[in-house]
Amino acid sequence: MAKKVEFGSRIGLIAATVGSAVGLGNVWRFPAEAQANGGAAFLILYIGCVFLLGVPVMLAEFSIGRGTGSDAAGAFKKLSPRKKWWLTGALAILASYLILSFYMVVAGWTLEYFWQSLTGALYELPAKAEPDGMSALFHARMGEYITGTWRPLVVTFLMIGINLFILMRGVQKGIEKMSNVMMPLLFVLLVVFAGVALTFPKASEGLVFFLNPDFSKITPTVVVNALGQSFFSLSLGMGILITYSAYFPKHTHLVQTAVTVSLLDLVVALLMGFIIFPAVMSFGLSGESLEGATLVFVTLPEVFAQMPGTQWWSSLFFLLLMVAALTSTISLGEVSIAFLQNHFKMSRRKACFWVMLPLLVLSSMSSLSQGVLSDVRVFGMNWFDFLDNTATNIMLPVAAILTCIFLGWATPKEYFRNELTNNGHVGVRLFPVIRFIVRYAAPVLIAVILAAKILG
Ligand code: PHE
Repeated sequence: MAKKVEFGSRIGLIAATVGSAVGLGNVWRFPAEAQANGGAAFLILYIGCVFLLGVPVMLAEFSIGRGTGSDAAGAFKKLSPRKKWWLTGALAILASYLILSFYMVVAGWTLEYFWQSLTGALYELPAKAEPDGMSALFHARMGEYITGTWRPLVVTFLMIGINLFILMRGVQKGIEKMSNVMMPLLFVLLVVFAGVALTFPKASEGLVFFLNPDFSKITPTVVVNALGQSFFSLSLGMGILITYSAYFPKHTHLVQTAVTVSLLDLVVALLMGFIIFPAVMSFGLSGESLEGATLVFVTLPEVFAQMPGTQWWSSLFFLLLMVAALTSTISLGEVSIAFLQNHFKMSRRKACFWVMLPLLVLSSMSSLSQGVLSDVRVFGMNWFDFLDNTATNIMLPVAAILTCIFLGWATPKEYFRNELTNNGHVGVRLFPVIRFIVRYAAPVLIAVILAAKILG
């Protein structure tokens, strides 16, 4: 029998899993959501969602993955060979692949901005100054780099190539090695940025703007958003954690791992807030858009343009963003690769090609839907937004609910306990609580969210 593929070290498996969790969700979704939805009040809610629901659901995925050592669909099949539960895994795989197809495009944008910062082209002033100043200039650049036709395609393809290169090298030599370099780099960069941001003249006002607790903002919609954000940020419901945990050694303490990963993911989200708000406040940009792409590609360049060492800070920031995006696309890709390898008995090399090749078309569609094809509407949205909505708002929660029901109701209680306790070698006193959440609280609450999203 072939030797089981495993992560080589505890640090490596945590780096890889955190790498998947930390992504654009932490950088551009979390800070803006927190600020708009009651600051610290939202934060408390978010932390509650992460630890009360996110961690137990993560443990459910870890147990299914590590216990079976299989891919996201194969794991269900192993545990329940005669039933159709594997469809849950299939749904998760499909969701992860669809997400990958547009996430790759965004990863391409980060590469473009990194490059344009390094060369300084992003900050070159046009011969004729833009009448509305910097903001208009960066909006125009965004048009060129993101909604243009060719440039975004080129960088998307480059990103597909980089992913292919890393994934082909395998779990230990590719994913783990890359994560071991990139995640520490990401944390160092974050701390450096936070240090700099806190020296800005209006740093404390920025933090107040970010965290000012306003409990009156907490409405049912905000609760729904907090839960949705926490699941997206922890990469739940996409088969990723099942796939990665299949590479965890048998002695890995699953509860400790889940808590560590969730904490680090939270720390990154918070640090991002500590960076962004002091910066936009100090440079008089708090009225500018803090939403998603505009925050990162327009508002922050305005900040860098006013700082000494513009190009360097900008390059470092987009490097950070690129690392965050790359470790996430890698994890999304691995889900399908593991599936093809197991299900069709493909070599890793071949599986990598089969996962990356169709992306040339699918990601191009997402990329072009930002510009020339933006008039092609699917349910009133462009292709990119349609995928984002379907995969993250519908498929992801459905897969998460089914995963909980499967582990909570369709597998023996002892299976879950044995996984969490490593067959009784470590104590997990909270097991009854965790199991209760997986059986009742999580599926019910996620279902409420799903209903809320669908009913608008
Ligand atoms: N968790 C990542 C983030 O916060 C996003 C992601 C989603 C990554 C799905 C992989 C899979 O941005």
